[in-house]
Amino acid sequence: MPSAPTPFDARTFAPVRRQALEAETLPPEAYTAEAFYRREVERIFMKEWNFMGRADHLVEPGAYAAVELVGVPLILVRDRKGGLRAFANSCRHRGTQLVEGEGQCKSFRCPYHSWVYDLDGALLGAPEMEQTRGFDRSQFGLVPIRLETWGGFVFVNFAPEGPSLADYLGDLPALLEPYALDDLVCARRREFDIACNWKLFVENAMEEYHIATVHRVTIQENTAMDTHGPEPPRGNSAVLYSRHPGSMALLKGDTGFPFIETLRGRPAEGTYFVLVYPSTMLGLTKDCVWYLELRPHGPGRTTLVHGACFPRKTVARPDFAEVVARYYRRWDQTAAEDIRASEWQHRGLASPFSRPGRFSFREVLVHEIDNWILDRVLDPGVDARERG
Ligand code: FES
Ligand SMILES: [Fe+2]
Repeated sequence: MPSAPTPFDARTFAPVRRQALEAETLPPEAYTAEAFYRREVERIFMKEWNFMGRADHLVEPGAYAAVELVGVPLILVRDRKGGLRAFANSCRHRGTQLVEGEGQCKSFRCPYHSWVYDLDGALLGAPEMEQTRGFDRSQFGLVPIRLETWGGFVFVNFAPEGPSLADYLGDLPALLEPYALDDLVCARRREFDIACNWKLFVENAMEEYHIATVHRVTIQENTAMDTHGPEPPRGNSAVLYSRHPGSMALLKGDTGFPFIETLRGRPAEGTYFVLVYPSTMLGLTKDCVWYLELRPHGPGRTTLVHGACFPRKTVARPDFAEVVARYYRRWDQTAAEDIRASEWQHRGLASPFSRPGRFSFREVLVHEIDNWILDRVLDPGVDARERG
């Protein structure tokens, strides 16, 4: 007698592994079950490169930010030599979280017994430890976490070894070179606490099927897209391109900033929507770039960070504050629309009567994303995907 499928049994996911237009969507438990989420943490977030916002967020030596990713507290800090570093936000004495929030400091002092760490993680002071035998201060620096940057975007990796960020990103930096990403300034960063699985928001960002319904009076009205479709998969990213008049980041009737001067060809004629796996979407349009970063806290709770980036020259304009308000209005409206859609979806999926569905041709990247996740979450060798 065949045994009942376990949560990670290949049979449970076989219908998702078919080609997109023959496949089923992920089973609802992939969005709601604690066991599935734990696997994602262990096999995706603890292993791959994770997006951490813009490097221009921490400019001066001593600028720091405490952040949390999948329950792991981290410190990001600009050191004395101008380098950006990441450390585990845990004291090496008895483990206390060292800092919270953001700020400017000369060193980190533990709030429990006052051990003091330098900006490069070295333990500078440990009061009343002179009687402790064989205590070697140099062995008790903060635990470093791998950090690399691309185009002014910061990424961290919890795995002590593995591919570099450049290897992970493959040819994506070459595709996006015309945007001169290093020259961008993050003008505004907003955080939202959302009641849905992180994958739902990622999937939403990479399909256009919902635009005519969810964004009927925002994006749909403004931006007639004459071509819209996925690009061939490229390493650890998924790319959707849309050709359209005007800027994707404005509402109908609004005028904005001059276009990015370095854009030619396709970038000058439309917008790239790029998912950098696992959980960050970049929107690159003619006059600006925005990011949507998803930080999961559990199967049903996620922090969404929205970052609005403009070329340095645009930010320096005397009318910047006045004009940028139009962009913020567009992003705030569409973010609210997408949050509502994703939270409703999560509530429906959590029903015991929810069942897997099917994909339209406008959702092939959702299928691609779900399979990228299954490639990592399922045990190797038990279940291959079909490639079309
Ligand atoms: S736990 Fe940090 S100094 Fe004791
Ligand atoms: Fe949307």
